Amino acid sequence: MSAQPVVRTRSLLDPKVKAAFLSLVEQRFGLRVSDHQARHLDSAVPQLLAEAGFLTPWDLYSLLAEGRRPDLLETLAARLTTGETHFFRVGPHIEALQRVVLPAIVSRRLADRRLRLWSAGCSTGEEPYTLAILLCQQLAMPPAWDIQLLATDVSRPALDAGRRATYGEWSFRETPEEVRRRYFVPAGKQWRLVEPIRQMVRFAHLNLAADALLPRDLGTADFDLILCRNVTIYFSPEATQRLYRRLADALAPEGWLVLGPSDPVPLQPGLLEPVYLPGAVLWQRTPVEGKDGPVLAPPTPLIERPRPRHPLPVAPSAPAASGTGPPLPAPLQEAVLDQEQVWAAQAGDRLAARQHAEQAVRARPLHAEAHLLLGMLLLEEGAADAALESLRRATFLAPHLALAHFGLGRACREVGNQGRARAALTQARWVLAAAPDDEPVPGCGGLVAGELRHAVESQLLGLRRASKP
Ligand SMILES: C[S@@+](CC[C@H](N)C(=O)[O-])C[C@H]1O[C@@H](n2cnc3c(N)ncnc32)[C@H](O)[C@@H]1O
Repeated sequence: MSAQPVVRTRSLLDPKVKAAFLSLVEQRFGLRVSDHQARHLDSAVPQLLAEAGFLTPWDLYSLLAEGRRPDLLETLAARLTTGETHFFRVGPHIEALQRVVLPAIVSRRLADRRLRLWSAGCSTGEEPYTLAILLCQQLAMPPAWDIQLLATDVSRPALDAGRRATYGEWSFRETPEEVRRRYFVPAGKQWRLVEPIRQMVRFAHLNLAADALLPRDLGTADFDLILCRNVTIYFSPEATQRLYRRLADALAPEGWLVLGPSDPVPLQPGLLEPVYLPGAVLWQRTPVEGKDGPVLAPPTPLIERPRPRHPLPVAPSAPAASGTGPPLPAPLQEAVLDQEQVWAAQAGDRLAARQHAEQAVRARPLHAEAHLLLGMLLLEEGAADAALESLRRATFLAPHLALAHFGLGRACREVGNQGRARAALTQARWVLAAAPDDEPVPGCGGLVAGELRHAVESQLLGLRRASKP
């Protein structure tokens, strides 16, 4: 076999020119691309030069920097990122939307039957159309609802493709066949989305790093759900956090934000709270005082929990926290680990039981079950405010503890925060979803999943009844 000739491709761009273009793209679009992606400039700039009829890269740079050809600058930015997307992307997100998020927002909006959803950075439309399909599956009578489903992107060609709504095989790689059969019709070698679903989505051009987050004609904020997945992976850290702050502002109280599994996490104390679901972490807007009952202060972790970056953490599948912290003296180990004894003690001597639990919390501040125990005892004593803090810590340290979410739901209900109560109980329902009825629930001193499930459902029913006018 003869040796292949070595073709050397020399970078056409001077490093200074390259740095100038990259800085312009970061300034205008928030994008801070890797060196690897920056190599695309070597082919993109000459193409744009030919298109714009310029001789030197500096001439082109001036044109773009002065804002005289925003279309060319957008094309350049698009060459540095990817529009990679497909229907039903990220299984755990789809499950979380189907089982937790959409049921929660639909039940919250039952009174006015109005839903606002936004796919920010929607690329060619597979993501917002997935949302539209999921919504139709969720609602008994979609036409009876006022649904606004907004899809925005900075790439105009991507938006045009979204509006056409005709897709090739590759867009369906994670999509159940049943969905394709039901919502698409063959169009040559491609598939065209059926008209009622296509019409649910409104596409609009929007640069997420620009000042005005929503063009005026798109109305006010108050979104129930925003998906902004796989967009900020290309953003600078500052642009990312700025965008998250603005997305949080655009959410309704308790509205949901879904980011991509590899996106940086929001670092906005008090604005967005993580919600741990199987295989996914979603973010929920903190309730706003006056609109949704008292604001719950974010839990002050006794020891700062490390903030995860890449990738996002997933809900632990095995009981967490039990093995953490310094070893306990024997009597305290019993207090923490053998809850059945404590529940029994509680029946005879509540004060002793609570002191026992308080001691356990002091000795093991990162032990979720100790906080759970204390929270439940306080709740039984009628001290719902104090119970809230302990139960929030328990859910924070061990999101898999269904009893902690249940207790938190009850405590929120007692202090009059119905919205948070519904969210916590919905999460308890979700954590219990896969457990057989006779399976003992961790941290419940012998209670089985079926019993706790029943208690969760009756609390939710009580909330629904109380919210009816
Ligand atoms: C990888 S795609 C993600 C598509 C979809 N969200 C998903 O996860 O399947 C990233 C999209 O973000 C868009 N994008 C990048 N920077 C943007 C900006 N500053 N404003 C709006 N959209 C942007 C790109 O044009 C691209 O379509």
